[in-house]
Amino acid sequence: MTIRHASLLPGESPMGTESASDAERGDLLRDAAERGIAYRAGIIDRRVAPDPQAVRDLTANLGGPLPEHPVDAQEMLAQLDRFGSPATMATSGGRFFGFVIGASMPSTVAAGWLATAWDQNTGLLAAAPATTLIEDIALEWLLEILDLPRESGGAFVTGCQMANFTALAAARHAVLARLGWDVESQGLFGAPELPVIVSADAHNTIFKSLAMLGLGRDRVLRVPIDSQGRMRADAMPGINGPAIVCIQHGNINTGAFDPADPIIDWARERDAWVHVDGAFGLWARVAPDRAPLARGVERADSWATDAHKWLNVPYDCGIALVRDRSALRGAMGTGAAYLQESPVREPMHFTPELSRRARGVEVWAALKTLGRSGVAEMVERCCSHATRFAEGLRAAGFEVLNDVVLNQVLVSFGDDATTLRVIERLQADGTCFCSGTTWQGRAAMRISVSSYATTERDVDLSLAAMRRLASA
Ligand SMILES: Cc1ncc(COP(=O)(O)O)c(C=O)c1O
Repeated sequence: MTIRHASLLPGESPMGTESASDAERGDLLRDAAERGIAYRAGIIDRRVAPDPQAVRDLTANLGGPLPEHPVDAQEMLAQLDRFGSPATMATSGGRFFGFVIGASMPSTVAAGWLATAWDQNTGLLAAAPATTLIEDIALEWLLEILDLPRESGGAFVTGCQMANFTALAAARHAVLARLGWDVESQGLFGAPELPVIVSADAHNTIFKSLAMLGLGRDRVLRVPIDSQGRMRADAMPGINGPAIVCIQHGNINTGAFDPADPIIDWARERDAWVHVDGAFGLWARVAPDRAPLARGVERADSWATDAHKWLNVPYDCGIALVRDRSALRGAMGTGAAYLQESPVREPMHFTPELSRRARGVEVWAALKTLGRSGVAEMVERCCSHATRFAEGLRAAGFEVLNDVVLNQVLVSFGDDATTLRVIERLQADGTCFCSGTTWQGRAAMRISVSSYATTERDVDLSLAAMRRLASA
């Protein structure tokens, strides 16, 4: 393989402590790629959670005193692989069903590797023309595939936590501006009252976002939920003035969707901003058979979602989208004399960060390689695996606690102590990985099918392990 690189200017030589020749540096990067390839190839057969001994070995071997002197980079990489790789969780394989964590498709890992080699600081067009423009394309494609208002502004951030924060900052900006208050200049001291309405089962990242925005975790108005964790549109609070309403598409436990249309109708009558936390559920809009679940949210004002969950790009990548892009810019805009601006979209005006990696490149890669039909097929496939899990568990005599409408399954293996014991055994067994939760007062095991790599065989192997460990 020949490595092409930009030629040096006359008289210039490579600098820095790693002043090896280009060829040697090429070897190092090739070595890293080979190790990464071997790691991914081994993921199919290895246990999902790492062996506890591997985790202990990592601390013992990669820790110790801060190195006083340089260490050969190849040796560093060999150590990292030897002690780091076995201690990882096999989330990029097909049998990790914990939390809501997507895998990463090879196409997106490859694009991410190249983008890392580019090392572009994607806060500013002048510093990163290629990746700024690729992210612009990715944002346009996202609005199209999610079928959200094409005029919306967007931001690539670390995850849905920051996407919720970013979109809610835009909401705070716009709603307080309607009340004659400039929150970015004046802060919140003396600001008009700003009611925030959330579901009684809103995701914890909504509360953290409100805390970070000075809107308070506990002064929110909580709307009661139904048996699936959906906000009850008939139980909205009695407020009249401008407010922020947060709805959820894809309940973290059940995968259920808050009823968008009646809540948005209610909000429109009150001049309230509607924000949608759609970390994974928003992707239902891409799959024709699931799209009706997520109907209506296109009428909202802002949306937060993740690409590192259901789009299966490498960690980390969340996306904030805001219908009124001037509100997003109003909340996130920045500038300094040294930051050379251009008339195009400067990412730094739309994200909390100034310097940032070009995480939109992997989104571009996923959308380019899968296309609309490929994303739809991946979403649908995960949902049908979830249904297969639910059917297999019911057939084995276990209780499925939720209506399985998407990719989430909640199961009880008996009383709470039994369910907790099965989760513990399953994680230790290593065939697959599921995490636990408390659902409406009962301990439950959560199965979240979010990996492009999961096959029916993975589901059946996992079901067999669940049955075996539950009856042990
Ligand atoms: C509904 C919902 N919102 C927000 C988040 C937070 O996402 P992240 O961990 O990417 O910040 C999650 C994570 O699972 C989620 O399911």
